[in-house]
Amino acid sequence: MTINWQKIREDFPALHQAVNGYPLVYLDNAATSQKPRAVIDALVHYYERDNANVHRGIHELSSRATAAFEAARIRAAQFINAHSADEIIFTRGTTEGINLVANSWGSKNLKPGDHILLTEMEHHSNIVPWQLLAERTGAKLVYLPVTGDEGLLDLDRLDLLLTSQVKLFAMVHVSNTLGTVNPVAELCARARKLGITTLIDAAQSAGHMPIDVQQMGCDFLAFSGHKLCGPTGIGVLYGRSGLLNAMPPYQGGGDMILSVDFHQTTYKPAPHRFEAGTPDISGAIAMHAAMDYLDAIGLERICQHDQELASYAYERLSELKGVRLFGPKTGRAGLVSFLLNGVHAHDIVTVADQWGVALRGGHHCTQPLLRKLGVESTARASFYFYNTKSEVDRLIEAMAETQRFFGV
Ligand SMILES: Cc1ncc(COP(=O)(O)O)c(C=O)c1O
Repeated sequence: MTINWQKIREDFPALHQAVNGYPLVYLDNAATSQKPRAVIDALVHYYERDNANVHRGIHELSSRATAAFEAARIRAAQFINAHSADEIIFTRGTTEGINLVANSWGSKNLKPGDHILLTEMEHHSNIVPWQLLAERTGAKLVYLPVTGDEGLLDLDRLDLLLTSQVKLFAMVHVSNTLGTVNPVAELCARARKLGITTLIDAAQSAGHMPIDVQQMGCDFLAFSGHKLCGPTGIGVLYGRSGLLNAMPPYQGGGDMILSVDFHQTTYKPAPHRFEAGTPDISGAIAMHAAMDYLDAIGLERICQHDQELASYAYERLSELKGVRLFGPKTGRAGLVSFLLNGVHAHDIVTVADQWGVALRGGHHCTQPLLRKLGVESTARASFYFYNTKSEVDRLIEAMAETQRFFGV
């Protein structure tokens, strides 16, 4: 079956609007994706028909809400090929998932002198929680270097860094700044041989390519619903069940307990022990709709489409004079970071917006990486399956206009 990508755009109401007098070209998908009608409808349906709190009531609406919420957990497990829905914790997003592991697993398992291995291309979400943990426990952060503008991990250095002192290796699957796709299965296998726990930040890969946690061999994996056509405020932390059930709760409150005494509490098993308080019920249900929507298209196809657009954009951008491109030439995920000589990244984004093209400019929450590359910011175009080649052409026209405007 061939996919009519142009037709798919009709499913996304937000794509059909003019910005500054031009049809919107939305190329800020790494920040958040647009939402198809099916996801918006799932949210509305829940609030119009089934709205009730979960797990606590035995009335009809509460039973429906609970069934739909738990069905979303089963769906999320399928989406990443987890062994069981008990390995799926609903979070607010990638950031909360990583903080949960740092606070719960990290506080229990790390001691002074232990190493936490990260890579130099991590998002702040996969740096700051570990810095906080290191401050609390006396553990030390160690970084696997990035080679330079081509943005690959320097794997020759891994043997030196992956020592028995390392207790956790946390790595990004797809870099939100470079577009690099890291060989996470291979990295996890090397860590596992030494008994090192692994965590994958899948914020930019989930919903963009098939994810199989069993094949990856990771211990934890975190992602956000809003980057895969779902709503904001919902995400998933996957954890191997053996690990989760040995971890203390992250937050205390309702819904995560078996029994509470004035001085003592016994907790539910995972995943519920990690979900204190009323969860984002509508978010989980709408994320379920997003996963169905993406799987109906096919994640292999989505991945190929994103990569084709990114390669085309890379090629066309490299034809501009004075352009500096970041990230690998080939095998990149669906985004391109770049700079134009003599123009600040924020100015690139501002001029592009005048032409209806939505880009992102800044440090993309990867300040240490950009400092290493010797820049403060880049402009970034990030694609999803509803983007087209003609939108890449609009990007290139907007960049040519930017260069004319600044006389470079
Ligand atoms: C690689 C990466 N990790 C983590 C995050 C944080 O995601 P969230 O803000 O949805 O928690 C992002 C968001 O841009 C990201 O790109």
